[in-house]
Amino acid sequence: MPIPNESSSPSLRHLVGKLVVVVGGSSGMGFAVARSSLEQGAKVIIASSNKAKVDAAVTRLIQANSAFKGSVSGLTVDAKDVPSLEKFWDEVGKFDHLVWTAGDSLGMPNFLTDDLTKKLNQPDVRMFGAAFSVQYAQKMDLFNPGASVTLTGGYVAHKPRKGWTMEVAGAGAIEALTRGLALEVAPVRVNSIGSGSVETEMWAAAGPQVVEYLKAAAIQGSPLQHCGQPEEIAEAYLFMMKCPMMTGSTVYVESGALLI
Ligand SMILES: NC(=O)c1ccc[n+]([C@@H]2O[C@H](COP(=O)([O-])OP(=O)(O)OC[C@H]3O[C@@H](n4cnc5c(N)ncnc54)[C@H](OP(=O)(O)O)[C@@H]3O)[C@@H](O)[C@H]2O)c1
Repeated sequence: MPIPNESSSPSLRHLVGKLVVVVGGSSGMGFAVARSSLEQGAKVIIASSNKAKVDAAVTRLIQANSAFKGSVSGLTVDAKDVPSLEKFWDEVGKFDHLVWTAGDSLGMPNFLTDDLTKKLNQPDVRMFGAAFSVQYAQKMDLFNPGASVTLTGGYVAHKPRKGWTMEVAGAGAIEALTRGLALEVAPVRVNSIGSGSVETEMWAAAGPQVVEYLKAAAIQGSPLQHCGQPEEIAEAYLFMMKCPMMTGSTVYVESGALLI
């Protein structure tokens, strides 16, 4: 399928030539957003903390479609570290859309025994990194007209799971942050995705048995009997980037898990 260009029909050219920055783009949902954005004619910068992963992801994208060559590049950034974030945004310069899927491993939390001082006393990749980036981009005038930001939370904010109280609170905080930022930086639009279960490298890192367990739980918890895939949830990020009416919203993409 040809990649849309300036002369494609209006509905196809929303992202043509736009610069989409995907922090967390070296794997999982972010990688799928990067690929879908490239397929729609965007220029894409993927970023995460591990240079080898970033380089491998750029290579995988170009192997997937040689037409992406010249449109995709990678940068490293540690979303917990202020100098690293500042250097990253200085390198990126002006851009059109920020998609934030960066998140570190959650492990298997257990609220009743977890060391809360460790959880609360350090910058958080999902919350701090995203908030700092939006503040810095606004301060340095990096948002192009029509820009958007899409953050990532989880449907667990509305369907808590025992043991996961701090993670549930974190997901809720992303929704509140979304609404606050949407007022702070308007007319830049700020939205978030409340993700359901999606089979990504984050699961794979925990080993094949955990993947099977999570997959079965996702299917059982969905009226569709469906476990989400990265390219499926990527559609929601594309919608948030493209729809000029969306700001301050969280869209749940959870295979219906909130219904049962
Ligand atoms: N998968 C699910 O079922 C699910 C459900 C609900 C919510 N979520 C949330 O959705 C987000 C994306 O999840 P995913 O499944 O796509 O995970 P993933 O495949 O593990 O991707 C996470 C990305 O974040 C990057 N990252 C981690 N620490 C970073 C740091 N300090 N600075 C910059 N980048 C960093 C990782 O790359 P590096 O290792 O190179 O840094 C990677 O690119 C996460 O916040 C996750 O908690 C996922």
